[in-house]
Amino acid sequence: MTKVKIQSLSGMRDILPEDQVYFKRVQKAVESISHYYNFNRIDTPILEQAELFIKGTGADTDVVSKEMYSFRTKGGDLVVLRPEFTPSIVRSYIENGMYNLPQPVKLWTTGPLFRHERPQAGRYRQFFQFDLEVLGDKSPSIDGQIIQMTYDILKDLSFKNITIEVNSIGDSECRPYFKKILTAYFRSKKSSLCSDCQRRLKENPLRILDCKEEKCQQVKSGAPQIIDHLCEGCHAHFKQVLEFLDELELPYTLNPYLVRGLDYYTKTVFEIVEKSEDGLSQGALAGGGRYDNLVKLLGGRDTPAMGAAGGIDRIINILKTREAKPDKKQEKTNIFLAQLGQSGKRKSMKLFEEFRQAKIPVAESFSKDSLRSQLNSANKMGVKWVLIFGQKEALEDFITLRDMETGVQVEIPLDKVVEEMKQKINKLK
Ligand code: HAM
Repeated sequence: MTKVKIQSLSGMRDILPEDQVYFKRVQKAVESISHYYNFNRIDTPILEQAELFIKGTGADTDVVSKEMYSFRTKGGDLVVLRPEFTPSIVRSYIENGMYNLPQPVKLWTTGPLFRHERPQAGRYRQFFQFDLEVLGDKSPSIDGQIIQMTYDILKDLSFKNITIEVNSIGDSECRPYFKKILTAYFRSKKSSLCSDCQRRLKENPLRILDCKEEKCQQVKSGAPQIIDHLCEGCHAHFKQVLEFLDELELPYTLNPYLVRGLDYYTKTVFEIVEKSEDGLSQGALAGGGRYDNLVKLLGGRDTPAMGAAGGIDRIINILKTREAKPDKKQEKTNIFLAQLGQSGKRKSMKLFEEFRQAKIPVAESFSKDSLRSQLNSANKMGVKWVLIFGQKEALEDFITLRDMETGVQVEIPLDKVVEEMKQKINKLK
């Protein structure tokens, strides 16, 4: 019989035990900043109706048109593995009547997302984001706050050379006119565009600004800039956002061609990129913007909103290469619980649980039967004491305590052992 080697799917990977510390560290930074700013945690399902993203993210965005994992359920529903959080959170805001709560509603989450992209550095098909959303407030101060929080999370994680790229892409008042002049410009250069962009010229010329093809980048560098064509409202809003960023002393640059690849954005858009010294380029670490029309588009009331998401995988890749080892503050285990014989094993499992309830760290090796190999393990771990629970001990309800430095052994009644060990450990502190 030929052996079939089953491997993980392309673009999907395991998060091995040794990498969990990095995930924890990012999670902790996100959680503590979100709590400080009074954001509440929300979790939405991984599986959603396809319609949510077709409508919300946009039918002709790459995310929806090329990258969604979708399938039909036995009941006939077309469902997808969520490719981003924003439409799901908006759906939940509407579905759960969060517009009745005091506004704005501030939410955060983290979790896995799925996009069938071409796997490359920093690009996975299952990846993790942290996400921040504020619904129900149009003030530019919220834009400033979201940008600051995203920046602070990265700063907390010891990122040094990060910059914020920021732009305004206007709204339904000024964007249609800008689209016209942009289309006219690109049409005059049509033959120099890649085939995807020639198609985008018909669907959405703004997407051409997002194209990473060398030839399109060149054409882009002479394109008109939306910032020169903003309506009064968008102009005033953007000016105030920049004033907030100045006041907060955040390092930003204006990127007049930043449009972002999702359909719902209005006014402010931003990305945080790392100016890498080691050439490790994986694209933006985080990105976001205002989406004042999305709640209405998905069937809710007219509700302005702003948010951002950060790519946890990309953040961790960089943390790892820099060997910024997270502090592993695991309490040292000073006690090893060794057992011998069936009833010794059973009773020591019970005793182990009593230690856990008393919050005293204890190591064990219940799967081993030989006392010698258990003592070897205890030695390797460098514990101070071994508690031996053998046949005789189990029968007479006591435990033998062996001091590993001196080799001295004493007997302790079973019902006193947790308390005695607690006192011994306290003396070590
Ligand atoms: P996004 O720019 O599509 O925005 O994703 C945000 C971040 O997720 C990116 O900057 C990147 O770090 C990470 N990311 C995206 N795709 C991948 C991938 N295939 N592999 C690894 N990391 C990836 C959004 O998703 C918006 N929902 C953000 C937002 C929230 N806008 C308003 N509120």
